[in-house]
Amino acid sequence: MATDNTFILAGVMGWPVAHSRSPAIHNHWIRQYGLNGSYVLLPVQPDLIGDAVRGLRALGFAGCNITIPHKVAAMPLVDRIDPLAKRIGAINTVVVEADGTLSGFNTDAFGFIQSLLDAQPDWRADAGPVTVLGAGGASRAILVALAERGAKEIRLCNRSWDKAQALAQEFGAPVKAIAWEQRHEALADVALLVNTTSLGMKGQNPLELSLDHLPKQALVSDIIYVPLETPLLTAARQRGNPTVNGLGMLLNQARPAFQAWFGVMPELTPALRQMIEATL
Ligand code: ATR
Repeated sequence: MATDNTFILAGVMGWPVAHSRSPAIHNHWIRQYGLNGSYVLLPVQPDLIGDAVRGLRALGFAGCNITIPHKVAAMPLVDRIDPLAKRIGAINTVVVEADGTLSGFNTDAFGFIQSLLDAQPDWRADAGPVTVLGAGGASRAILVALAERGAKEIRLCNRSWDKAQALAQEFGAPVKAIAWEQRHEALADVALLVNTTSLGMKGQNPLELSLDHLPKQALVSDIIYVPLETPLLTAARQRGNPTVNGLGMLLNQARPAFQAWFGVMPELTPALRQMIEATL
C-alpha cells in the first residue's frame, strides 16, 4: 500500500544489506514497466527489526523483502503468515495490505522451482528420487517446495546429522535423513541433486562429492550464485549432466514480491540476467 497511487516504495531489510542485488533487480523492473516507484536498501540492526517492520505502514511502504538475519525474527511481527511460509519457518516478503495490516510470505520456494522450470520446462518433482545437501534455512524452503510439487523421495544429507534428522521428522515423508558420509551413494538413481550448503561458494572450500553414482541425465542444481558455476556444477557439466546455477532462484524469488507491491508479474529477461551477472 503506497501513501498515494503515484509513487510505490519497497525495499530490503537486512544486516548487512549493502551487497544485496535486490535493488538492481526491482529497480530494473520499475523502469521496464514504466512504474513510478523505488526499491531501496534498508539496513536494519537485529535489535531494531520490530521497529522497522512496524514502521513500514507509517513510512508509506508497499512492503519489503526480509533477508539475513531477519527471516525468522520477522515472523511474529506480521499480522498473518502465508501457510507455505509457515511451513518453511521464515518469511522473505512483507506486504502492507490496503487496511494497513502486514502479511508475510516466503517466495524462495517459488524461486527455486521456477529456476528449474526455466532450465527444463518439463521438469517434474516426481520424476525420481531427489538428493538435497544441507539442512539450513535455504534447505527448508527447497524441501517444502519439492514436497509441494509432489516429490516422492527426498534424501537429505547434512554434515550435522541431528539437523537432518530433525527436518526429516518435522516434514515427514517424503524426506529421509541420510548420513553426510553416505552422500556419494545417495546419488544413485536420482533425478535431481541440489546443493544448499555453502561449500563451493567464493572463499569457501569446494564440496567434496563423487558423482560416480549420479545418473547422467540427472539435473544438478546449486543455489550458490557467486561463483555462477561452482566446482560441483563444473564437474556435473563436464560429465554431461544438465545444470542450474543459483542466479535463477535469486531472480525468480523477486518476481512474486514485485507483483504483490507493484501489481505486475515481471518477466525474467536475458537483459536482466546479464545486468545482474555483471555485478557478481
Ligand atoms: P542457508 O540459510 O544458506 O541455508 P545456513 O542455515 O547457515 O545457511 O546453512 C548452511 C548449511 O551449509 C548447513 O547445512 C551446514 O551444515 P551444518 O548443519 O552441519 O552446519 C552446511 N555447511 C556449512 N559448512 C559446511 C562444511 N564445511 N561441510 C559441510 N556442510 C557445511
